[in-house]
Amino acid sequence: MKTAPDRKIPLVHPDYRYPESGNPYWKKLRDLPPGLVYCDNDTELYRGVWRDKFFQAGKNGKLTVEIGCNGGHVALGLAQRAPDEFFIGLDWKFKQIHRAAVKAAALGLKNMIFLRANAQRLGLMFGPGELDRVLLFFPDPWPRKSQHKNRFVSAKNLKMLWTLLGPGGELEIRTDHDGYFERMLAALEEARAGWSDVRVTRDLHAAHPDPRKLEMPDVTLFERLFIRDGIRIKQIIAAR
Ligand SMILES: C[S@@+](CC[C@H](N)C(=O)[O-])C[C@H]1O[C@@H](n2cnc3c(N)ncnc32)[C@H](O)[C@@H]1O
Repeated sequence: MKTAPDRKIPLVHPDYRYPESGNPYWKKLRDLPPGLVYCDNDTELYRGVWRDKFFQAGKNGKLTVEIGCNGGHVALGLAQRAPDEFFIGLDWKFKQIHRAAVKAAALGLKNMIFLRANAQRLGLMFGPGELDRVLLFFPDPWPRKSQHKNRFVSAKNLKMLWTLLGPGGELEIRTDHDGYFERMLAALEEARAGWSDVRVTRDLHAAHPDPRKLEMPDVTLFERLFIRDGIRIKQIIAAR
């Protein structure tokens, strides 16, 4: 029997329980071996101890989280490229996370975990200073004014990300969307305290002779489409 979410408990409250879903991948995700993928409230079991619990082989390796990793193309590529570092890919899409985790298993990656959860609860999944790098590539722009409240990048969430990063940690954001980009910059200004360095570019691939030739993980799946359409890629790198 499916359980309905308790409407009285807000999504970001620690007591919130994700509801069971009728999506067939909700069950399929639970059939995958532990240590490869975690779903819903299970993504919060290892807050503050991800490194100790899963990545003991090289405790000094950097821990990167990619928010909105979709089918994991970039995170998987980065994990293969840097076997001494650790990567956690997060998305709320059941099927995409299933696909990503199956690929990680097929590749035999020991430095990669996927999480099926809502990024708004990131502060319940990771402890203060636990992360070295956060990647947020092409977050949904929610273009209509009435949808702006759904945007992930806000002063509140930037403060949360700042807390999760260790000293010297970095947040990288890329977007195709001009309006959202300006809003991101304003939110950073609002949440400025603590970021030691903020680098901004409005045309990331300007110096590249033919950015259409760029491949993953240097560009994302969505980024390739935007480049093909001649859209300039905007980027923010904020260091803690
Ligand atoms: C526009 S796509 C970009 C995908 C990928 N980063 C890329 O650049 O190719 C945005 C992704 O973020 C995910 N997403 C959006 N809101 C989310 C949330 N609150 N929590 C987790 N994932 C989210 C979507 O499911 C989708 O996979």
